[in-house]
Amino acid sequence: MKTNTIQNTDHFSGTVLIAVFETYEKNIVPIAFDGLEIPAKVFFGKKDTHYLAEKNNNIYLFIGLGKAIDYKALKIIFRRISAKQKEYFSSNIALVLPEQLTDNQVEAIISGLLLGTYDLGHFKADKKAHPFLDPDFTLNLVSGKDHLATAKKAIKISKAQLSVYNLVDLPPNTVTPKYLSNWAKDTGEKYGFEVEVLGYDASKIAGLGAFLAVGKGSENEPQFIIMNYTPKVEVKSMKHVGLVGKGITFDTGGLNIKTAGMLHMKCDMAGGGAILGAMQLIADLQLPIKVTAIVPCAENSVDSKSFLPSDVIHSYSGNSIEIIDTDAEGRLVLADGLSYLIKNFKPDYVVDIATLTGSSVGTFGYECGALFTNNEEMSKKLQESGDEVGERLWPLPLWDVYKSDIESDIADVKNYSGKPVAGAISAAKFLEYFTQEHTAWAHLDVAGVAFGDDEFAKSKHATAYGVHLLTKFIENL
Ligand code: BES
Ligand code: ZN
Ligand code: ZN
Repeated sequence: MKTNTIQNTDHFSGTVLIAVFETYEKNIVPIAFDGLEIPAKVFFGKKDTHYLAEKNNNIYLFIGLGKAIDYKALKIIFRRISAKQKEYFSSNIALVLPEQLTDNQVEAIISGLLLGTYDLGHFKADKKAHPFLDPDFTLNLVSGKDHLATAKKAIKISKAQLSVYNLVDLPPNTVTPKYLSNWAKDTGEKYGFEVEVLGYDASKIAGLGAFLAVGKGSENEPQFIIMNYTPKVEVKSMKHVGLVGKGITFDTGGLNIKTAGMLHMKCDMAGGGAILGAMQLIADLQLPIKVTAIVPCAENSVDSKSFLPSDVIHSYSGNSIEIIDTDAEGRLVLADGLSYLIKNFKPDYVVDIATLTGSSVGTFGYECGALFTNNEEMSKKLQESGDEVGERLWPLPLWDVYKSDIESDIADVKNYSGKPVAGAISAAKFLEYFTQEHTAWAHLDVAGVAFGDDEFAKSKHATAYGVHLLTKFIENL
């Protein structure tokens, strides 16, 4: 894909997309462009409306932005145009951007256009490529401002997000732990970060007992992925960020088998997917910060070899865990991920992200991720970063009164309170136990936002939530 800047569309041939703010009084001033005049009665830039016209063999698509418009809304408007009007696109697009648009808004617009190329029909015989995916496709920016750098950045962002759409939406008989570790190795090589993978034997030797317990019932070998990104120019005072993502490629619940919602549990690696996508993006943008990321990948399956409710397992941290419920498996793989990260790499900041609890969905629905942290700076920076990129977070408490929920009689800690209350909080308290009192740790429970329904498909699908948020957070540090 190529990007280019042009002064005007005088000698342009192709499809012209014109972003129009709703600044005109309805029924008064017509919108005019290239000699075309659209009666304000028909189109006046209202949000979620568009107008199609033709002149000199060029197609003109006027796109309403509304009045005050945020990142997420812009992204959706342009994803919709790209996905649903693709029969009008040629491999040459002129994108006309009003002067008032900020760089951030232009980023949202271009990201939306590119995300619109996503096709969920991975296994369909008659898959047709979107015109933007043509190798000769050129995006010509028409603006009084220079948005070329922003466009290049938007391309990188959406490329990483599209990778994550694939990883999450592909079925669990394709996306196994091995598939994810191979993806990490290939992407590390292509974009410039180091990848080490611990399979079953290496994990056993390392003592990753909580991680291995979860994968015991599966034919698919668990993979503990460790990634390291180091900027080309290292500065002495440079901060080091540690990331951990839940990589459960399918969650049957284990022997505490799920009675509802199992169908969607290929999404249970979406936290890990967000970390993989963020690593691609961080390396692609060459951010000047050191990042170590861990994605413990396993399949939580039912088998005679599966771990049992009431088992006591031995985690990497040296602490024992009583299994109350095998469906509370995410916190087990994260416990070992967090301990391993903090003990071996000592990062300044630690963020984990996981589709961890149905309870977080009960609390926030599909609007925001649940944020847990005792670190004020991280709380502020994570929320601000999320707001900037249309991936909202909202805090829940980590008060010590909830500690009693995970106290076990037989072991150091148990994986579930056994009570159907405060599920997202007690899960966060469980994770906190394995952070070795790190003072800059945040946990994001994204069960409600990583996978969902929207206008782009009939069934639930990936959102790539977290890829941009985590990258933005690191950029803003
Ligand atoms: N993977 C689920 C959480 C989940 C729910 C993800 C909905 C995406 C959408 C997790 O492993 C789980 O099963 N959690 C249980 C924990 C309980 C058994 C303590 C839950 O939240 O019900
Ligand atoms: Zn589960
Ligand atoms: Zn799970």
